[in-house]
Amino acid sequence: NIIEPASGYLASGLEGKGRMEEPENILAYLERYFDRTSDLSGKSVLITAGPTYEKIDPVRFIGNYSSGKMGYALAEECASRGANVTLVSGPVALSAKSSNINVVSVESAREMLDECQKVFPTSDISIMCAAVADYAPANPSDHKIKREKQDVPTITLVKNPDIAATLGKEKRPEQVLVGFALETDNEAVNASEKLTRKNLDMIVLNSLRDKGACFGTDTNKVSIIRSDKSRTDFALKDKSEVAGDIIDEILKILGKV
Ligand code: PMT
Repeated sequence: NIIEPASGYLASGLEGKGRMEEPENILAYLERYFDRTSDLSGKSVLITAGPTYEKIDPVRFIGNYSSGKMGYALAEECASRGANVTLVSGPVALSAKSSNINVVSVESAREMLDECQKVFPTSDISIMCAAVADYAPANPSDHKIKREKQDVPTITLVKNPDIAATLGKEKRPEQVLVGFALETDNEAVNASEKLTRKNLDMIVLNSLRDKGACFGTDTNKVSIIRSDKSRTDFALKDKSEVAGDIIDEILKILGKV
C-alpha cells in the first residue's frame, strides 16, 4: 500500500493539484519499501500469541483477556517481510492471512511449551507475545463440578512452566529471543527484571495503565528495553505498526550477532 501514496504523489503532480514529490524522495520511499518486504527472507520466526486456558473441568477454565491481536499482527508483519512463521496460538477468534504463517493451535501453557520446543532449535527469531497463565489447576476434574449445597470447592493450583525462561536457557548465541512484559505498576523495573531473569535479548513493555493499549484493542503503546537496558518509548499506534517497530529493532540486534 506504499505504492498508493507514491502514485498519489505522481498523480497529484500530473493533475497540477500540488507539487510533485521530488523524484529522489519517491525513489528512497520505494527502496525502503522493497528493502522491508525482504529483510526477513530466509529467516524462521516463532511467535506465541493469545491466552492459555487451564482446565478446571470440562466446562470451565482459568484464562485471561488476550485476544491474540498483537501476536497475529507480529506474525503478519514477519511474513510480509519474507519470514517463515510458526505461530503457536492459544484459543482466539482470529485467523492468519499469509500463507507463510503456520498456525499451531494449543490450549494450555504446557501444550504451548511443547510446541515451542519443537521449533525453537531451528528458529532465528522467537517472540513471546502470548499471555501465558502462570498457574493451572493441579487436578482438573474429568466431570463437571456440581454446585454444592454448602461447600465452595477449593481449586489447588500448580505453577506452570515459564516458556520464555525455558527457551532462554536453551538459546544459542545467534538466536534472538524477545519477550513482552504486561505490567500494571513499577513497569520499567519489572520489565527489566524479566528481561534478565528469562535471558531475553529484548523486552516489549506495555502497561494496562495506558488507554488503548494491551488487551483486545487494535492499538498498543510500547516501550522497548534492550539487554544493555537502553529504552525507547513509542507512541500509541495500530498493532500492525507496533509490530513493524518491533521487527525493525530485532533486525538491529540480528545485525550485531
Ligand atoms: O492479545 P492482545 O489482546 O492483542 O493483547 C496483547 C498482550 C497484552 C497480551 C501482549 O501485548 C502482551 O503483553 N503479552 C505478554 C503478556 C504476559 O503474559 O506478560 P508477562 O509480563 O506476564 O510475561 C512476561 C513474558 O514471559 C511474556 O513474553 C510471556 O509470554 C512470557 N511467559 C509468561 C509466563 C509463562 N508461564 N510463560 C511465559 O513464556
